Order: sequence, then C-alpha cells, then structure tokens
Amino acid sequence: MTKASNIPIENNIQVCPTQEQASETTAQLIADVIKAKQELGQVAVLGLATGNTPKLVYKELVQMHKNQGLTFKNVVSFNLDEYHGITPDHKLSYHRFMREYLFNHVDILPENIHLPFGTWKKNRIGQHCIEYEEKIKHYNGIDIQLLGIGRNGHIAFNEPGSPFDSVTRLIDLHPFTRNDAADEFGGLDKVPTQAITMGIHTIMNAKRILLLALGKRKAEIIKKTFESEMTPQIPATFLKARPDIEYIFDTEAASLL
Ligand code: F6R
Repeated sequence: MTKASNIPIENNIQVCPTQEQASETTAQLIADVIKAKQELGQVAVLGLATGNTPKLVYKELVQMHKNQGLTFKNVVSFNLDEYHGITPDHKLSYHRFMREYLFNHVDILPENIHLPFGTWKKNRIGQHCIEYEEKIKHYNGIDIQLLGIGRNGHIAFNEPGSPFDSVTRLIDLHPFTRNDAADEFGGLDKVPTQAITMGIHTIMNAKRILLLALGKRKAEIIKKTFESEMTPQIPATFLKARPDIEYIFDTEAASLL
C-alpha cells in the first residue's frame, strides 16, 4: 500500500492526489475504528455505502484482511439503502454488490450484516423500516458511517426534498438518479422507481461520518454543497449541521472548491 500524501485544506477536508489514495485513506480510517473497538472487546458498527465511490475502499479493506490480518469478526454493518422491487440476487442489488465487493472476502459474520430488502412488501415496509432503526439503536448507533454523494446532492437515497428529520423509509427516486443509473440497468425503463433508504436523521446520528467523493463528475455538486445554505433541495448540505464530518476528496472532486 502506498502512503497517501494528502494536502489538508481545512481540518476536516482532505484532498488526496488520486482516487486510490483517497480510498486508501478512507479504508484506513475505517480499519482504525474496527481495531480500536477490538482492543476494547467491543463491536464496531459500520454504516456502509454502495455505488462506484466505495469500490476501492472495500478493495483496500479486503487487502488489509488478507495481508495484514484485519479481522471483521467484531463488525456489525448497516447499509444505507437498497432499490425497491429487486431481489437480493439481482445483479444490481446492493445485497449482491456488498457480497461481491466486501462480505464474500472477509470474515464478517453473516448474522451481523444488515441491509434493507428490496423485496419488502409495500404494506410491511413501514414496520421493517422501524425495525431497521431499532436494530441500529440496539447496537448503540453507528460508529462510523461511509457516505458517497449523488450528483443531485443526495446522500444515501435521500433525494432533493428529503427533510432533516427523515428516518429509514421508502422513497421515490429522483429522475436525475434514475437517469444516472439507466446505463447499468440497460435502459431507463428498467431502473427501479423507488428505494428504501436510511433517513438524514439516521445518518446524522452516526458517531462519525466520512463523505468520500471521487472524480470530476462530483466537482460541481461538491462546490454547490459547500457554497449553499442548508436546504432539503441539496440534502448533502444538511451535513453542515455537524462540523465534525470528515470529507475525503480526490483532486478532481475538489477541483471547483
Ligand atoms: C449508495 C448511496 C448513494 C451513492 C451515490 C453516489 O449506497 O447511498 O447515495 O453514494 O449515489 O453514487 P456513486 O458512488 O456510484 O457515484
């Protein structure tokens, strides 16, 4: 692993020269939490994201598991979201993503893995979402939450219009989000119209929050998020309510700051 030579531009913003270095930095912060909790004989509760952004983070964590003996035996995980209407085995389900990029390659206990299910029946979703929130509370909250950011400013699938006090729920996906996913689903008509997502309030309750943004495609929304007042129209602006949030960018994502 090469050591990232980061340029801190503010206390809580790190700009790394490359996507790899930003991902390594992020993975290291997560691994440090896992190890610190191990030393205390406690579980480490991770809030996990999917999408392109965390792929290299998970790759790095898998390397740490294989080469440096990082164990996930004390890890409990909660994923941010899942598309509604698809099965856990669908090739684009977040269940499958997590197995492919992380869970199949580390020693996390299957019973410690939590994701919303895209197969939850509509009339039961409300209850399932309450139970999801309760499970997080049962573990005393999320120790470290990894976030990406959508180009419309969503965090998890809290689309524009999501209120600050929102919790885990079913949400209509924004046309922008569905368009962004159209290619991988093989056409806009195949992209799910809804998702189950942790709320802004759920996320903000995490003890530590890392927002990772990579690449030129994210530069515009990062700039908007930093320049705008808190507004439900750009849900990521709500993160400003917590000055301790850690932002990790590569040079391209930070290029308009
Ligand atoms: C996924 C999630 C989303 C993504 C966001 C960015 O679990 O919560 O908010 O983080 O859509 O996606 P990528 O990383 O694919 O650009």
